[in-house]
Amino acid sequence: MRYSSLAAVLVLSSSTLSFSAYAAGNLNMICSADVVVCEQMTRIFSQSHPDIKVSMVRLSAGEAYARIRSEARNPRTDIWWAGTGDPHMQAAEEGLSQPYKSPLLDQQQDWAKKQAEISNYRTVGIYAGALGWGYNTKLLADKKLKEPKCWADLLDPAFKGEIQIANPNSSGTAYNTLATLVQIMGEDKAFDYLKKLNANISQYTKSGSAPVKAAARGETTIGIVFMHDAVAMQVDGFPIKSVAPCEGTGYEIGSMSIIKGARNLASAKIWYDWALSAEAQSHMKEAKSFQLPSNRSAEISEYAPRFENIKLIDYDFKTYGDSAKRKALLGRWDKEIGSSAQ
Ligand code: F6P
Repeated sequence: MRYSSLAAVLVLSSSTLSFSAYAAGNLNMICSADVVVCEQMTRIFSQSHPDIKVSMVRLSAGEAYARIRSEARNPRTDIWWAGTGDPHMQAAEEGLSQPYKSPLLDQQQDWAKKQAEISNYRTVGIYAGALGWGYNTKLLADKKLKEPKCWADLLDPAFKGEIQIANPNSSGTAYNTLATLVQIMGEDKAFDYLKKLNANISQYTKSGSAPVKAAARGETTIGIVFMHDAVAMQVDGFPIKSVAPCEGTGYEIGSMSIIKGARNLASAKIWYDWALSAEAQSHMKEAKSFQLPSNRSAEISEYAPRFENIKLIDYDFKTYGDSAKRKALLGRWDKEIGSSAQ
């Protein structure tokens, strides 16, 4: 072989190699669901796509959003799978995610498609779940406390030190709670409520489901969480009962976004299409992830809290998925609640 053709072969093979190692063969993912389902979905995907090496990190939704913002000039993340829709919408609005219309979009529930439409296809719904809380039935009885059925009940001074919720800066669950209360009560009244609630809160956790895990272990009586996270503890055998607040409640549209400038775009699209499939979503319940799946043909767990049994508000995903709104609400929360939190 002449030198020039050998060189051409070398150049070609090294560029092919670097392409497969750098583009199609890797996938850097942030997962904002529960770590058990994050690991399980990564494993199942890897079994059917052995050519794609997935590196997954679990971050709460607010943390994930902050990470993606900080990486904007030099993205390390290819796909952000799961987590409450609000920060996905905020990332979309800031141009941190990139549009993609999956061929599987037509198979999704209207609420999942709407999330895609209002974000100009920069994010899409993958599951939904209603907000509420879980309480430890044994501790409640031992302490002779009344069952909290309504948001208003959580302000009872008898619950002092008995409630946990996450910090809305880090947690998508807690941001969704803040936005829900503002939508139910109006902003000023919601902040009055949160100040009073603060007197009963023993800890603001980093992750959204941590409060009900603590309640399951008997470390706190009540955890304000998504109802499916309370149900997961119940199914695990803990004395936890989940509650849908009597006044009405908000809900999440768990979402997925491809990051703008993703280095492994081909792999990201392969994950994206797979994650919208009925087959992939039907696996989530095996990891005790009891949200309602977005694919209309995915199997729904018998344990999933069904929306038809819950009094839901008409959650405004566009308004509360707006970056300026997020900044304003979290700024006020930090000033009025976070700064005086125990
Ligand atoms: O535990 C699962 C889950 O509640 C998801 O339904 C939700 O999208 C996510 O956790 C939110 O987690 P965090 O509040 O930690 O951001």
